[in-house]
Amino acid sequence: MATTTLKLDNKELTLPVITGSEGEKAIDIRNLRQESGYITYDDGYGNTGACLSNVTFIDGEAGILRYRGYPIEQLAEQSSFIEVAYLIIYGELPTNVQRSRFSALLTEHAPLREGVIRFIQGFPRDSHPMALLSSSFNALGAYYPHLVSNTLNIDGAHFDEGAAIAISKVRTIAAHSYRVSRGGRLNYPNPDLGYCENFLHLMFSEPYRDYVAKPEVAAALNLFLLLHADHEQNCSTSTVRMVASAGANLFASVSSGVNALWGPLHGGANMAVIDMLKHIHADGDDGTRFIQAAKTGKGDRLMGFGHRVYKHYDPRAAIIKKSFYKALASLGIKDDPLLNIAMKLEEVALSDDYFVSRKLYPNVDFYSGLIMRAIGIPENMFTVMFAIGRMPGWVAHWHEVASTPKLKIHRPRQIYMGPAKRDFVPVNKRR
Ligand code: ACO
Repeated sequence: MATTTLKLDNKELTLPVITGSEGEKAIDIRNLRQESGYITYDDGYGNTGACLSNVTFIDGEAGILRYRGYPIEQLAEQSSFIEVAYLIIYGELPTNVQRSRFSALLTEHAPLREGVIRFIQGFPRDSHPMALLSSSFNALGAYYPHLVSNTLNIDGAHFDEGAAIAISKVRTIAAHSYRVSRGGRLNYPNPDLGYCENFLHLMFSEPYRDYVAKPEVAAALNLFLLLHADHEQNCSTSTVRMVASAGANLFASVSSGVNALWGPLHGGANMAVIDMLKHIHADGDDGTRFIQAAKTGKGDRLMGFGHRVYKHYDPRAAIIKKSFYKALASLGIKDDPLLNIAMKLEEVALSDDYFVSRKLYPNVDFYSGLIMRAIGIPENMFTVMFAIGRMPGWVAHWHEVASTPKLKIHRPRQIYMGPAKRDFVPVNKRR
C-alpha cells in the first residue's frame, strides 16, 4: 500500500495514500487524531474526499464529466434520461429486458395515491413548488411503510420499487404543484407517453386540449434532465448521503436533498440568469454596460458564468448549447429580447480578457434557464426541474451509503473557537 509521511511536532507519521481509478490521490487521515492529536481543517470540504464513490467522475481542469465511466458527451448523444437514470442507479447500462422492466415500474408508479394528491391540494396556491416537493417526498414514506422500515431489503425488489417511485413520482408531484399553483385541474399520467412527454402533458394539457410535445422540445427536456442526473459530492448529494448515514430511509434522505437544492447558491443559478437578463432589458442595456460593471468587481456578477469545479469549460454547457437553438427554432423563438441579450453577453465575455484570464466560461445554467423559459416552465419551477434531473444521482448515492456493510454515521469534527471555560454567574450578580 502506498504511504506518505507527515512531520508534526517533530514526529514523523506514516499515512496511507488512496489512489482512485482515474489516478486521483488522497491522503487517508482517518487515524491522524489518534496518532497525533491533530484533526484537519477544511471549511466547506473543498479539499476533502468525504467518501469513496463509484458513481461519477469529474475532472474540472480538463472539463471531464463521466457517469459510471461513460463520457457525458456519448450519453447525451446516444442515450436518454431514463437509460442514464438506470445506469446511475444500478451501475450498468440496462439490457432490453431490464430497460422494459424499469419502464414498466416507472409507469406503474407514475400516479400519486389519493392521500398524496389531497396533501398537495391542501397547500396554498402561492406555495413555492420546492416546499411542496420536499414535503410531498417526505409524506410518501407514510404511504410505503414496507419501504421505510428498518428491515428494508435494499438490494432486492424493495430498492427497485423505492427507486422507481422516486424517479417517477418526482415528475408527477412537480407537475401537480404547478397545476395547484394555477388553480387548474390536475392531469393524470398517460401510460402511453415517454417520461418527458408525460411530464409536459401533466403540466400543460387542458380539458379537451391535450398538450402534444414537439419532438425537439421533448428532446431538449430529456437532455436537460440527463445533464443534471449526477454531479458527485455537491451540496444536495452530500446532504442525502449525510442523512442516509443515520440510517434514514430513501424518501426522508431525498427530501433533505431537495431542501438543500432549494438554496439559491445551489439550484437557483438558472433562475438568476433569467432575472439578470430581465434586469438588463429593463435598463435598456444590450449587455455591454452590465459586463463593464461586472468587470469592476463592483457590479453584479455575470450569472451563468464561472464554476467552482470546471476551470476550462463546463462540458454540460457545450452539449446543451447545441440543442438550444434546435429547441428554440421548433418553438418559433427567433427574436426574443432576453435571448438577444444572452447571446451578446456570451459573445463579449468569451472574447474579453477579464473573463478569459479568470477562466470564466458559460456554465450549464446560462443556457438551461433560457430553454426552460422557452418550453413555458415558470421561473419558480426551474429548481424543481433540476430536482427531477438530479433524482437518479440522489437515489444512487443513498444506495451507496445504505448498502455499506457497517453503516457509519457521518459526524465531522470542528475546531471550537468560542469562549474558554468560565464559571456561571447568577443573574443578580451579572454586570
Ligand atoms: N462574473 C464576473 N466575475 C466573476 C464571476 C462572474 N460570474 N465569477 C467569478 N468572477 C471573478 C471574481 O470576482 C474573481 O475575480 P478576482 O480574481 O479579480 O477577485 C475571480 O473571478 C474568481 O472568482 P471566485 O469567486 O474565486 O471563483 P469561484 O470559482 O470560487 O466561483 C462561482 C465560482 C461561484 C460559480 C462564480 O463563478 C459565480 O459566482 N458565478 C456566477 C453564478 C453562477 O453562474 N453559478 C452557477 C454555477 S453552476 C452550477 O451550480 C450548476
